[in-house]
Amino acid sequence: MIQGLGLGFRFKYLENLQTQAHSIHWLELLVDHFHDLDAPIVAQVDALLTSYPCVLHGVNFSLGGSDPLNPQYLDLVQRQIERFNPVWISDHLCFSQVGTLFLHDLLPIPFTNAMLDHVAFKIDFLQEQLKRPFLIENISSYVRLKGSEMSEAQFIAKLVHKTGCGILLDVNNVVVTCHNHQESIAEFCDALPWSQVKQMHIAGAIHQNNLLVDTHNQPIAEGVMGLYQQIQKQHGPIPTCLEWDSDLPAFSVILDEIARCQHVCT
Ligand SMILES: [Fe+2]
Repeated sequence: MIQGLGLGFRFKYLENLQTQAHSIHWLELLVDHFHDLDAPIVAQVDALLTSYPCVLHGVNFSLGGSDPLNPQYLDLVQRQIERFNPVWISDHLCFSQVGTLFLHDLLPIPFTNAMLDHVAFKIDFLQEQLKRPFLIENISSYVRLKGSEMSEAQFIAKLVHKTGCGILLDVNNVVVTCHNHQESIAEFCDALPWSQVKQMHIAGAIHQNNLLVDTHNQPIAEGVMGLYQQIQKQHGPIPTCLEWDSDLPAFSVILDEIARCQHVCT
């Protein structure tokens, strides 16, 4: 069962998670960190997962892309499901691949009815194929595409209604996106079907010129923590995963961030 605070698993913390006392209850594994399931370190992850429930998080389903779902990626995720037994799978509302080119970025989509049908078709297929609940995550964005017929949050709400999928709400991404587009965080939140928000992400970002940039290499900003607290009080408890992707700090820093999250919810 996934509840309380989790951590985006990074190999650097494997030994800490095995040996140190802490209050991390579950782990989120990145699909793209486990391309070789025969690698010896994966056996250590197997052992670790006897003590932690886990979820699986993808970045390359490219749900908004015009290509069909990538069969190799789908096969990889299926093998990881068999190996790790995640409670659910998630990926982003974006596109990240064109043909055989992986773009290594999460790129925005227009929020149109045609795109809604397109993404819903792929999520329906994934839920049927993977036999696991699927959660869709909001990205951080820096441009809005022309032609949108609804807001991002309205799009997510309609997608949930059409497919029955869940939402992985990235609190940091809400703050970053709303800041960059001068949109209202309250309006974003008001449009969401909260009963379907099954997981949240929390992370750090940086200011660059007038933009917030989602770098995942910083402590959680006070504004993000404030929104997290407000959401947990209003709609929680919602299991939340700390994401730290680059410039990985000492495990003690991770534990400090986990403690900050705990503190604002007590
Ligand atoms: Fe995220």
